[in-house]
Amino acid sequence: MKLDQQVFVVTGASGGIGRGVTQALLDEGARVLLSDLDQSRLQEVAAALDPTGDRTACVAADLTSKEAIASVPGHAVAAFGRLDGLVNNAGAIVMDPAWDASVEDWAMQLNVNVTASFAMARAVGNHLRANGGGSIVNIASNAGKVGYDNMAAYNASKAAVISLTRSLSREWASDGINVNAVCPGGVDTPMLAAVARWLEPRVGVTADALLEGMGAAQLGRKIAPIEVGRVVAFLLGPDAQIIRGQSISIDGGDTPY
Ligand SMILES: NC(=O)c1ccc[n+]([C@@H]2O[C@H](COP(=O)([O-])OP(=O)(O)OC[C@H]3O[C@@H](n4cnc5c(N)ncnc54)[C@H](O)[C@@H]3O)[C@@H](O)[C@H]2O)c1
Repeated sequence: MKLDQQVFVVTGASGGIGRGVTQALLDEGARVLLSDLDQSRLQEVAAALDPTGDRTACVAADLTSKEAIASVPGHAVAAFGRLDGLVNNAGAIVMDPAWDASVEDWAMQLNVNVTASFAMARAVGNHLRANGGGSIVNIASNAGKVGYDNMAAYNASKAAVISLTRSLSREWASDGINVNAVCPGGVDTPMLAAVARWLEPRVGVTADALLEGMGAAQLGRKIAPIEVGRVVAFLLGPDAQIIRGQSISIDGGDTPY
């Protein structure tokens, strides 16, 4: 088990990919501090993935709050006695054509998707550099490379996560911190379902049919959260030390760069 006894914070842990990432980290022997907006939902997910409760702890934190972000690393150390890394997974999307999108929605998506990722990386990173290093994986998106319609703010936020990943990787290498990102395509989660529901009345196709078409063309299916989680677990581990500052497309070949 490549992450045996190591401790990681996963944000957005009660969402679709967050749950898959948490499962994959537990499968590799890690312990996980799950963080998201709602404590009872977090506890349901933790109980399902770790019935004995030995290897999970939960903390509700709204990542739009600087104080909440600053408190998260301490919860991991209090629960498990150490902290080895972070998965910046929490994210938000508001669909709208660029002509109609509000500046407030733009700011909210940039705040949750990239500003909070930066602040959380620094909060956890401060602990890592004081304790010999660790690893961080940011969940970006192939939207940050492609730029899909009706999600200009989301696209921009994920492009910024890709850039942030390069910057932190370079600056924090000397602190022993390895920083990478993944860029998933269509993953079977509540966020993707919400996108399909937004499109339904606008394109005249049912949300279910749209969701079917959101899978990776070469795979002929959507990506499962656990598949994202397994790549993230690899990138957090010792075998990924030679992969640094990368934003790896994990979209079944849809974005071959
Ligand atoms: N589903 C996809 O197809 C897909 C593709 C590429 C990238 N992503 C990215 O993967 C990540 C996870 O998305 P998902 O598909 O699992 O969506 P999801 O909606 O199931 O999960 C997102 C989680 O983030 C949490 N969150 C939102 N705002 C927050 C805040 N202010 N503070 C704390 N937590 C907050 C939500 O409560 C939710 O549990 C996101 O960053 C998303 O952009 C998703």
